[in-house]
This record gives sequence, structure tokens and C-alpha cells, in this order.
Amino acid sequence: MTESSVQRRLVDIDTSEPVWERFFTVAPLVLVGTIDENGTLDMAPKHMVTPMGWQNYFGFVCSPSHRTCSNIERSGEFTVSYPKPSQVLYASLAASPRINGDKPILDYFDTFPAEKIDGAFIEDAYLYFECRHFKTVSGFGDNCLITGEIVAARAESSFIRASEHDSQDLIHDSPLFAYLAPGRFAAIDKSNAFPFPAEMKK
Ligand SMILES: Cc1cc2nc3c(=O)[nH]c(=O)nc-3n(C[C@H](O)[C@H](O)[C@H](O)COP(=O)(O)O)c2cc1C
Repeated sequence: MTESSVQRRLVDIDTSEPVWERFFTVAPLVLVGTIDENGTLDMAPKHMVTPMGWQNYFGFVCSPSHRTCSNIERSGEFTVSYPKPSQVLYASLAASPRINGDKPILDYFDTFPAEKIDGAFIEDAYLYFECRHFKTVSGFGDNCLITGEIVAARAESSFIRASEHDSQDLIHDSPLFAYLAPGRFAAIDKSNAFPFPAEMKK
């Protein structure tokens, strides 16, 4: 069989190493909020994040060595804040290394409490979930998938979809944060309607 010109442009990626450093992919970026054993608030950025199906389940991939993971095992709950592009520094600084087990930088974050669980959110994000731990699946190499059921959700009103608000205008007026893994980010303020096929079913 002859190689097509498209195939000739393909480059083999070594799968004996993690492939994810070799190209960019688009991901969300959230701050997962938990409570440390001593009662202080913890926030950690996560980009390996996804809805877990069409119902109200949320999941993210986490290293079991992170405090976020042990906090959720202990407390059974966590918050999720979706930052705006202007809040990139919150997402960055929340990954600061701990000093004697603490993350003092978090003292400078403006936060407000969750309502249904013991937890807190960063101020001025655009979307907030309160989650009860559902299940953790370990064994993805060193990492595990932590899932929760969304028991409360709130969003800034300008980010809420409404029939009278054109979607293109909404995203333009209230841009979304995209993490371009690894190590870049973008503010999305332009979008197109997806060309769904006729009579598609979910
Ligand atoms: C942009 C960004 C994205 C990250 N995404 C993840 C992720 O998806 N999963 C993860 O386990 N760690 C991720 N991290 C690393 C953790 O958030 C970081 O190690 C954090 O300090 C762990 O905090 P903790 O020990 O309080 O849980 C990310 C860090 C940054 C800066």
C-alpha cells in the first residue's frame, strides 16, 4: 500500500515516555478546594478535568501524593471554582510548593464559603460546584481519577446561557479560560456554532 501525503506528515511519538509533553491539547482549568487535616483551606489547580457523563457528576485526575487527594478521602467533599482568564495567577499560585506542610500563599486568596458542604471557593470565578465524593479509581500509572456528585452549582449571571442572549455574544462578553497543556493558556472570546448532524441524538 502506498503512503498518502497525510500519512507522510505523521511523526511517531515514543510511547515508552508520557506522550503529553509532545503536543498541545485544550483543557479546562479549575481550582479544587478541600480542607486540610488541620482545618485550613487548600486550593489546587487541575486541568485533567471532565464532566462524568450527562448527569451531575464531575471528575478529575489527581496524584495520590497531593493533599487534595487525601483531604477528599478524609472529608468526602470538595469544591470546584472555574477561574476567568483574568485569574490565571490564582491558578498558578495555588500550585506553590508547601512550606512545612502549609501553602501560606492561600492566605492572600479572597474566598467565600460553600453552602452545602464544608469548603470554600475563590472569589470572582465564573462557575462553582459543591461536590460529594462519589468514587476514586486508582491505577492510572501513579494517578487516580477522583469523582464527585455535584450537589450545588452556581454561576455568575453573565455566564449563564439564556435564549435571549446570543451564544457568540455571551462568550465574547464573558470569555472562557482554556489551558493549553502543557504550560500555555488562552482566553476564548470567539466561537462558532457546532455543525450537528440533522436529528442527532445524545
Ligand atoms: C496549570 C496546572 C495544572 C495542573 N493540573 C493538575 C492535574 O490535573 N492533576 C494533578 O494532580 N495536579 C495538577 N497540577 C499540580 C497540582 O495542582 C499541584 O501540585 C498542587 O500544588 C497540589 O496541591 P495539594 O498538595 O494541595 O493537593 C497542576 C498544576 C498547574 C500549575
